[in-house]
Amino acid sequence: PEPSWAIEADVAVVGSGVAGLTAALRCATAGLRVVIVTKALLDAGSTRWAQGGIAAALGEGDSPEQHLADTLVAGAGLCDETAVRLLVEEGPDAVRRLIDSGAVFDTEPGTGRIELTREGGHHRRRIAHAGGDATGAEISRALVAAVQDVRASGTPGGGSMETVEHALVLDLLKDAAGRTAGVSLHVMGEGQHDGVGAVHAPAVVLATGGMGQVFSATTNPAVSTGDGVALALRAGAEVSDLEFVQFHPTVLYLGSDAEGQQPLISEAVRGEGAHLVDADGVRFMVGRHELAELAPRDIVAKGITRRCQEQGVEHVYLDARHFGARMWAERFPTILAACRAHGIDPVTEPIPVAPAAHYASGGVRTDLAGRTTVPGLYACGEVACTGVHGANRLASNSLLEGLVFAERIADSVVGAASDGARPGPPVAGGRELPLPPAEARGAVQRVMTRGAGVLRSAESLATAAAELAALDPAEAGAVKSAEPGTETWEAANLRLVAAVLVAAARRRAETRGCHWREDHPDSDDSRWRRHLVVTLDPGDP
Ligand code: SIN
Repeated sequence: PEPSWAIEADVAVVGSGVAGLTAALRCATAGLRVVIVTKALLDAGSTRWAQGGIAAALGEGDSPEQHLADTLVAGAGLCDETAVRLLVEEGPDAVRRLIDSGAVFDTEPGTGRIELTREGGHHRRRIAHAGGDATGAEISRALVAAVQDVRASGTPGGGSMETVEHALVLDLLKDAAGRTAGVSLHVMGEGQHDGVGAVHAPAVVLATGGMGQVFSATTNPAVSTGDGVALALRAGAEVSDLEFVQFHPTVLYLGSDAEGQQPLISEAVRGEGAHLVDADGVRFMVGRHELAELAPRDIVAKGITRRCQEQGVEHVYLDARHFGARMWAERFPTILAACRAHGIDPVTEPIPVAPAAHYASGGVRTDLAGRTTVPGLYACGEVACTGVHGANRLASNSLLEGLVFAERIADSVVGAASDGARPGPPVAGGRELPLPPAEARGAVQRVMTRGAGVLRSAESLATAAAELAALDPAEAGAVKSAEPGTETWEAANLRLVAAVLVAAARRRAETRGCHWREDHPDSDDSRWRRHLVVTLDPGDP
């Protein structure tokens, strides 16, 4: 649909997690007019759900070089070493700047130094945390407060900030010369902006987060529907590594029919000494990897899935009764409350856990300045594929990536704005595609969980591909679209990213990082130590 209203800006930032807000604040500080578009409220994305923390070489005896080594091992041969080097070297100062801007991290009693914990794949204590296990919530609080200040008073450099909440981004707008001219959006509200509108801007930063909602059980909030990747695909941008979906090993098990966002039990719980045990009480990760329960995440998720298959059960247990009531309450208050809300008391009983979809290691391909292959379109945070995660993200590198690359993107947006060139008026979009009904969301989730979950095979993926094709109204020859609205657009985005993910997973005939092919159990460096990069033909659904 054609937009019926528009806001003029220098940059449109889509998404309001650590990546989006950091980029927005830095652009405004440099004097740009920034509009932040977000699908629910400013603090409703994935960032606020992050528990364990943010990884950076801040501790005594640690170094960026060691952080680099752990990240490369987890990434299973597919990290871009230059990007990782940049992440680990710029990371510590980026965290210090975050603290200077108001985020309060937990400190050691007595010394006042930042308290650090361990998580899977890290050989050192390297994870800074806040509120015990509420790191993302604190980062989100601090950044949203800074955004509200700028919104109220602007910046000394002449920058300004406007926010549009409850706004689902639809498509990238381009001018007649093919330059980025902004984004169209659908606003669900009664406010000043309602219905389909646009932000006109020469630069668009996608910071829309992940796509965990393509699976039935995920740690991601309901808003994580792959909207940024879907927009980028429709705009002709390159997308890479979508087959590498990370399943978090320890998510509270709520039954085989549990759907939607499930409570995360942070790796930091294992970092502080919790044990994974099977139905017989055996610590099955010991002997499977030198780091046992703290092996990289893909190894632990695979270990759990295998043990469940061997025992014919659907979950294992995380035992941290030895922490005692006081440590549970002080160090992991969020997790304690979530478990108790579901009738489990981790102080007195082991917690039932199973893997669930957690993080998209791939996404919209960018260079080191966050530029996608479409000029004027940038991507940052989980929606992006900067090359730092490779085939499997190292725990707690994601908040760090959001911070470090948002700063770099802001600098490149500001640099590009300094030449003053603005795109022409947006031209009308391509052909309109029929939307699937809202119920397609649940159908996509069931198909993906059955066919493209932790354990995949040529057969399971072929079935998933066929079922996803049948859910595509265009492919099924439908002429009638479902009523346009948030739920139907989200269903269309989920179906599209699921189809591209499955196509990549079918092609990658090997096991690497978090992509586990039962029919190809080994990595094949000679054929597959490379990225799968996808673009859609213009006009494809
Ligand atoms: C966790 O706290 O286990 C999540 C950390 C992450 O996903 O990086």
